[in-house]
Amino acid sequence: MRIFAHRGASGSAPENTLTAFQLAVQEGASWIETDVDLAACGTPVLLHDTDLDRTSNLTGPLYAYRAEELAQADAGSWFSPRFAGQPVPTLAQLVDLANEQGLNLNIELKSNEQGAGRSRLLLERTLAELGRLGEGRQVLVSSFNHLLLAELKVRAPQLRVAALFTRETFGPDWLSVLELIGAEAAHLEDSGLTRASVQALRQAGYEVNVYTVNSPARANQLKNWGVNGIFTDYPGRMLHLEG
Ligand code: G3P
Ligand code: MG
Repeated sequence: MRIFAHRGASGSAPENTLTAFQLAVQEGASWIETDVDLAACGTPVLLHDTDLDRTSNLTGPLYAYRAEELAQADAGSWFSPRFAGQPVPTLAQLVDLANEQGLNLNIELKSNEQGAGRSRLLLERTLAELGRLGEGRQVLVSSFNHLLLAELKVRAPQLRVAALFTRETFGPDWLSVLELIGAEAAHLEDSGLTRASVQALRQAGYEVNVYTVNSPARANQLKNWGVNGIFTDYPGRMLHLEG
């Protein structure tokens, strides 16, 4: 089973910071999941929420700040004073880290809230950054925005794509959705997940990865169900299940 460090080692360090990614590496993770959207200047940056309030000393939407302003932000103190001064990183910084450390990336494209033009710019800028990954680095691009994924797959058919579903959005039309996107994988919410759903997806030839799993017992059960991977905030706890 593949272990994805969810927003880095986000149980032990502030999510989506370089420190959280480096800690995941120290814990032995080889796959990092992160969330990508555009700053005001069009630079892809790593942030889960559209607003900066929960995870930094800034307020309001990410879209109002340039990457250089986000580089001055404190995205660590909210988690612990030990992490004060951690900035909001760019995707470029994570690509550099992946090349240095031999990491593989699950890039979750956020559903940009500024319209089609900015959504397409998010695709273009993300593809440009991923193009800098060295040979041997693996990438999986996911999103809850299935329209964005379908467009990505047209532009970059060689990229592996995963459709994200919540418990509420995973419905009986899943095969149609995955085939229309051209997806290779489904990323499913752990809550409410059934063994029958996992088996149906696997039998149809799809990779299945489940978020967010922090209990080793549950992770082991999902492995027995045939799940291919899990997203966890505590990669160090789960790596014995890898392989
Ligand atoms: O990509 C898996 C998981 O991160 C999806 O949900 O809200 O944590 O980005 P969220
Ligand atoms: Mg995510």
